[in-house]
This record gives sequence, structure tokens and C-alpha cells, in this order.
Amino acid sequence: MISNKIKDGIVGNINIPPDKSISHRSIIIPSISKGVSEVNNLLMSDDVIHTLNAFKALGVKIEKSNDKIIIYGKGLNSLKKPNRNIYLGNSGTSARLLTGLLASQTFESILEGDHSLSSRPMSRIMDPLKLMGAEFENTSGTLPLKIIGKKLNKLTIEIEIPSAQIKSGLILASLNIEGINHIIEKNVTRDHTENMLKSFGADINVEKKNNQTSIYIKGRQELRANNIDVPSDLSSSAFFIIAALINKGSKINLNNININPSRDGILKALKKMGAKINIKNQRTLSGEIVADIDAEYSNLIGCDLDAEMAKFMIDEYPILSIAAAFAKGTSIFRGLKELKVKESDRLELIRLNLVNCGCDCEVINDDLIIKPSETYIPKNNIIRTDFDHRIAMSFAVMGSRVDNLEIEDAESINTSFPNFIEKFNNAGGNIL
Ligand code: S3P
Repeated sequence: MISNKIKDGIVGNINIPPDKSISHRSIIIPSISKGVSEVNNLLMSDDVIHTLNAFKALGVKIEKSNDKIIIYGKGLNSLKKPNRNIYLGNSGTSARLLTGLLASQTFESILEGDHSLSSRPMSRIMDPLKLMGAEFENTSGTLPLKIIGKKLNKLTIEIEIPSAQIKSGLILASLNIEGINHIIEKNVTRDHTENMLKSFGADINVEKKNNQTSIYIKGRQELRANNIDVPSDLSSSAFFIIAALINKGSKINLNNININPSRDGILKALKKMGAKINIKNQRTLSGEIVADIDAEYSNLIGCDLDAEMAKFMIDEYPILSIAAAFAKGTSIFRGLKELKVKESDRLELIRLNLVNCGCDCEVINDDLIIKPSETYIPKNNIIRTDFDHRIAMSFAVMGSRVDNLEIEDAESINTSFPNFIEKFNNAGGNIL
């Protein structure tokens, strides 16, 4: 895919796809609830389709009816042993959440993934599950992973790594224990699992004290089916917001965007950089906060973000780095260790590709330092993505200001944002 400079800015009302994190949970939670749940506006991207197929393989009846997905849940212990390995493609969320859920079932299962997912750490979820008594046949700490499902024990567990995937995997495992599990989260991470479980009648209590979250969850309580409306994805909207901010003449409106406060760091960071963003019509949709967002071309200024910020916007650093590349002055984004274990080593790919585009960019320890250039003349116009959807879309946005960027393996974009190219071009983009 080639991304070329644009002439007249990014404009219009852009329909952003449904939230990926909430979509995964909108399949998992109804599948283990009792009754029929209707999911409106489910994201039909590669990652979410892998979760959907996994639950079909686990014996759950799932149908499509007009724009809705109907899930016929039969309760906490209704899943069946799959008669094949469960393939999860590129999806880390599916892998970590399913590991937790399946570790507490009474049958064996094997999870597999693509090349990228097979190199990502699974021990971060396996280790705390082992403390609950879980068993795995695996020495590498990566996929493929054989899960020996069994009855798990209650425990108090502390999570040191800032990861909603670990937390959610442990919560799902806890649904099947006898008694109450206490999960202590040392860092804030997205809380979609907790929000959705509450609306499905789970016995879950969340207490926040001194920058630490305690989650108490009582197992063996059947969940009741519920209907879900999935809001649009803030992470996906960030590509359009930043494309608008860096291109003269841009003005966009986005509707129904999830602005969950555990995930809205990108909006705060951009405001700090002087972005003209207006967040309006705040309301609640299926237990999540949503709003409409207007953004227009802005004279951005560089900023220094501390490591604390990373927890509120971990997926947005690739695209925020593009904003920083067109701001006035240096930006420093600190404490980005977790970026190294995403769909790719994002820290290294941001650095490499920005340098190839002509930007002065370096990584010192886990901090990313970006010094924008006056004019961008690529040293090498090939953008390496290692099949990472967010790197591909971020540099497609970079291409709107730096001509002729050739983005490798751009089909990875289907992981989270099918039709990205079409939507970008309809709004004024120039991607071939
Ligand atoms: C996600 C959690 C985050 C995020 C990922 C989606 C989720 O990962 O990067 O894109 O849906 O729970 P970690 O929990 O590993 O940080």
C-alpha cells in the first residue's frame, strides 16, 4: 500500500468502527451467560472474528440477524471441548482472555496463533493462573498452549504488569471458583470486563484506593443474558483525529466514541499538545461513556508525557508519535516498556520508520524522543510494519504529509479496522 501527500485536508463526518476490546468481551461474556443476548454493532474485524469462531468451536450457538449478532448462552459451565485447536490469528486479547476462561473449564484445549502472536508472552497470564492451580502443557511461555482445564482455587492475586488482558483473564477464571477471588491491580487498565460483567449480573465489586484497584469476584454465580450496543473505538478514531490535526484545512466529526476514562489518555495528551478537539454530548451506552468528537487542523506543540500516561493510552503511541513528528519542539514519551510486547516491537518500529522518514528520533531506555524535522524527505520510503495494524495505519497517516510511503503488509489493518483505506480516501486521503 502506498500513502501519498494530500491536498485539501481530512474532512467530514467519519463513521469509526466499533470498539475492538468491547467487541471481544461482547462475545465472551454472553457465551457463558444464561439466555439469549443480542449484540448490536459488533466489530467484524479479523481479531474479533477469531474470538467469534473460538466460541462456535466451544459449542456456543451464535447467529447473525440483520445487523445484530445473537448469542445463545447456556451458562458458566456449558462450553464443550473443541474438536480442533483454537486458532486466534493475531489477537492477543483473545489469547489472554481465553486462557483464563479455559483454564477453569473441565476439558483440555489448545490455543494457537499467527507468527506475531506466537512470539508474544503468555507466561504473564499463565503464571498467576498457576497460583490458582491451573495446569498447562507448555515450556516456552508462548503459543501454542495446551490448557488442562480444571477446578481452580480462590486466592488473592497482585498484578504488577499494567495489563487489562491479564486482569480480564484472571477475572474470567475467577467466575468458576468456589468463594471470592481478590485481584489487586497495581496500575489502572481498561475496565470493560468489569463494566460488562456488572451488567450481566456478576457478583463483582471494584474498590479504588491509593492508585490501586481491588476487584472482588464471587465465583459460581450464573450470569444473566443482556443486550449490548458496542460504541465506536477511540483507538481507531485516533488515526483520523491526528490526520485532521496535522493537515491544513481539516475538520472532522466523529460520533459515539467510547471515552472510557481508563483509556482516554490520547485525548488528554493531544490537548496538552494544543490540539483543537471538542468532546461533546457525553452519555452512557451499555455501561460505557461515549461522546461525539470534533477535531480540526491545529498548530501542535511537543510535549513530555510521564510513564503514568502509558497506562491510559498504550495503543495510541504509534499514532501520537506521528502527531509529535509534526509538532513544534521536541516530544518525550516516557516509560514505554510494554510497547515492546505488542503486535510488534512498537517502540523499535516507531523509531526505525520515523528515522527513515527523515525525523530525528531515538529510544533511550524505555523513553521515546521525537525531534520533528522542518521538511520530511524520506531516507527510505519503505515502512516496516511486522504485520502490525497500528504501525501500518499510523504511517499511512504520516504519508498524508510525506509523499510516497510504501507500507509493507498493510493487510494487517483488517485486524482492527476493515475499510480503513476506503474511509481515509473518502475523507480526503490519498492511499493507493
Ligand atoms: C486490550 C488490552 C491492552 C491493549 C490491547 C487490547 C484489551 O493490552 O494493548 O490492544 O482488550 O484488554 P494489555 O492488556 O496487554 O496492555
